[in-house]
Amino acid sequence: MSASRGLFIVFEGLDGAGKSTQADLLLAELRRAGQAALLLREPGGTPLGDRLREILLGRDGALGLEPLSELLLYEASRCQLVRQVIRPALARGQTVISGRYVLSSLAYQGYGRGLALELIERLNREATGGLEPELTFWIDLAPEVGLARLRTAPDRMERSGLDFYRRVAAGYRELAQGQAQIIRLDGERSQNELARQVAAQLRRLSRRANGDKARS
Ligand code: TYD
Repeated sequence: MSASRGLFIVFEGLDGAGKSTQADLLLAELRRAGQAALLLREPGGTPLGDRLREILLGRDGALGLEPLSELLLYEASRCQLVRQVIRPALARGQTVISGRYVLSSLAYQGYGRGLALELIERLNREATGGLEPELTFWIDLAPEVGLARLRTAPDRMERSGLDFYRRVAAGYRELAQGQAQIIRLDGERSQNELARQVAAQLRRLSRRANGDKARS
């Protein structure tokens, strides 16, 4: 990591897990500390990405999206976002916080829809040019609890049913196993408690980065 490159932090988890609340809290915390930070979410964040978001999360059941088409659209949105927004922001030294990234495609289109994980990994690599976050916070929550928390009418993904969400949840669990850069947060804890854990992990990360700098 070069001294001037910003940090890339991702929040992952099921719909209703509380990702956007934690992302908002982290953004506010960083800005209070005087750091330049940018908050994004997938799909979306570019002109094409926003159009793709409407297709992917709209309520138009008549589209009849095939699972592979769905994957390709999420990847197209990610490709635009990484090249046009995330990489330039990191290069300017900004911290980038994203609600969702490559793990979402593996969990939802892989474990949820049943597409091959190798294919998704390949597309993730191509779409991102191999850009990996420094930390991914995975907010782990039972699908029943997450779905019950949703306040708005279900979007196209949220209409996929409880069994789908159970597969996605199991997918996150498997994907996180043995991955030190994926931090599990217990989605049943209060938002304040989760925010404290996020802040502590970030302090640890910057201590490590500063240590590396001092050694080099
Ligand atoms: P959104 O309303 O942003 O949900 P949340 O606030 O929970 O992030 O919708 C994003 C939806 O898109 C969510 O259902 C997960 C799904 N998704 C995928 O299936 N694959 C992906 O690669 C991404 C980025 C999102």
